[in-house]
Amino acid sequence: MTQKSEKTSSGDSMDHVSLFDPVSDQSFDLPLLTGTEGPRVIDVRHLYRDTGYFTYDPGYTSTGSCQSEITFIDGEQGILRHRGYAIEDLAAHSNYLGVCYLLLYGELPNAKQKEAFVQDITHHTLLHEQLTFFFRGFRRDAHPMAIMCGVVGALSAFYHDSTDINDPDQRRLATHQLIAKMPTIAAMAYKYSIGQPFVYPRNDLDFAANFLHMTFSLPAEEYKVSPVMARAIDRIFILHADHEQNASTSTVRIAGSSGANPFACIAAGIASLWGPAHGGANEAVLKMLGEIGSKDRIPEFIARAKDDKDPFRLMGFGHRVYKNYDPRAAVLRESCHEVLDELGIENEPLLELAMELEQIALNDEYFIQRKLFPNVDFYSGITLKALGFPTSLFTVLFAVARTVGWVAQWKEMIKDPEQKIGRPRQLYVGSTPRPYVPLHKRS
Ligand code: SDX
Repeated sequence: MTQKSEKTSSGDSMDHVSLFDPVSDQSFDLPLLTGTEGPRVIDVRHLYRDTGYFTYDPGYTSTGSCQSEITFIDGEQGILRHRGYAIEDLAAHSNYLGVCYLLLYGELPNAKQKEAFVQDITHHTLLHEQLTFFFRGFRRDAHPMAIMCGVVGALSAFYHDSTDINDPDQRRLATHQLIAKMPTIAAMAYKYSIGQPFVYPRNDLDFAANFLHMTFSLPAEEYKVSPVMARAIDRIFILHADHEQNASTSTVRIAGSSGANPFACIAAGIASLWGPAHGGANEAVLKMLGEIGSKDRIPEFIARAKDDKDPFRLMGFGHRVYKNYDPRAAVLRESCHEVLDELGIENEPLLELAMELEQIALNDEYFIQRKLFPNVDFYSGITLKALGFPTSLFTVLFAVARTVGWVAQWKEMIKDPEQKIGRPRQLYVGSTPRPYVPLHKRS
C-alpha cells in the first residue's frame, strides 16, 4: 500500500493510499481522511463497489464507524476529552449535569443555560405512575440490570410525544427525559429488590442528592444527604458519562440507525453494557477481589490471568483503546481514598487488596508487554461499596451515568448526513451449495 497527495478542484490536498490487487493487476486509490485529532482513516466506503473486496475486522479493532465531535481518546497517552475538555478538569470543576449539557450541546453552559437545563431535567424525573405496576411483574431477586432493560424499553409505551426521531423537539425531549428518569428507575429497581417502598424524586435536590435520596431514604424517617456522598457519586457519574464508540454506544448507534425510537435504543445499550467485559466489570471486580480474599492468594490469580487455557481474566484490567493508565481510573483511585477518608473508613481490606494487586500486575512482564493497565472499573466498585451501594447496583449506576453519552451519540448519529443503516458484511466460511436431502434418506 503506498500513500500519495493530489490537489482537489477546490485546491485542498486530498491524500490517498493506493491498493494494488495482484489478482486483477489493478491499483485502487482510497481517500485518506484527517480529523482534528487522532489517527487518519482510510475511507473504504466504496471499496466493495470499486474492488469487489470487503474489509475484515472482527471486533472493529481498526475500524472507525462514524465521524464524531463528542469524545476524543488517545489510548497510547491515556487521554480522554469531552468536546476538547480534559476529563480531569471536568471531574474537578464541573458537575454531572454540566457535563451532560456539554456532551449534548457542544459547549459548557453559561449560568442562564445551566439553570434552564437543570430545571428541565429536574421536572422530568417523575415516572408515569402506571410504570410502578410494571416493576411488580419482576421477581424480587431479579438482577437490577434486567429490570433496567425491561423498564427503559417499555418507556416508549408511555411517552408517545418523544418517539418521532425526525422531530428535533421530540428528540430533545426524549434525551432530557432519559437523562432525568434513569436515576428514578435505578432507585426504584433497588427499592423493589429489597422490598422497600419507592421514593419519589424531590425537585429541591440536585441530580446526585436526589438519586441518593430516592435510593437510601425511607418514609419512616428523615434522610439527610451526605454532601461527601453526593459529590462522590456526581464525580463517578461524570467519569462514566461517555467514551467514544464503545460496545454499548455502538449498540445504541446501530439500533438507532434503523430508525428505532430512542427508548428502545437506550434499552439495547443497557443490555450491551451489562456484559462483564464491558460495564459489568465493576461488579466483576468486587466479586474477583472477594474470591482472592487475601494478598497471599494474589500470585495464584495473576497466574490464572496469564494462563491462556484459563478463561479467567483480571477484571478491571486491560482496555481495547487504553494502552496506558485509564485517566478515569486515576481520578477514581484518588476519589476512592478521599471517600474512605471522609467516611472515616480506615484500612478498607478490599482497597488494600486492590492496590497490592495493581502493583503486582503493573510490574509483571505479561501485563507490561500487553500494556494492560487498570481501567475505569477497577476502583469504581470499591468506592461504590464504600458509599453503601450493593454490588448488583454497580452496573446500573454505570448505565445511569452513560445514558447522556448514549443519547448524545444517538442524537449526533440521527443528524449525521453520512449515516446509513448499520449493516456489516462477513467472510463466509460455511457450506458450499449442496442438494436437499429428504428426511427418509438422512442417516
Ligand atoms: C469498559 O470500550 C470502552 O471504552 C469500554 C469502557 C467504556 O467506558 O465504555 O471503557 C468501559 O468496558 C472497560 C473494560 C472493562 N472490562 C474489564 O475490566 C474486563 C477485563 N478486561 C478484558 O476482558 C479486556 O481487557 C477487554 C475486553 C477490556 C479488552 O479486550 P481486547 O481489547 O479485545 O483485548 P484482547 O482480548 O485482544 O487482549 C489482548 C491480550 C490477550 O492476550 P494474548 O492473546 O495476546 O496472549 O491481553 C490479554 C488477552 O488475553 N488480556 C488480559 C486481560 N485483558 C486482555 N489478560 C488477563 N487479564 C485481562 N484483564
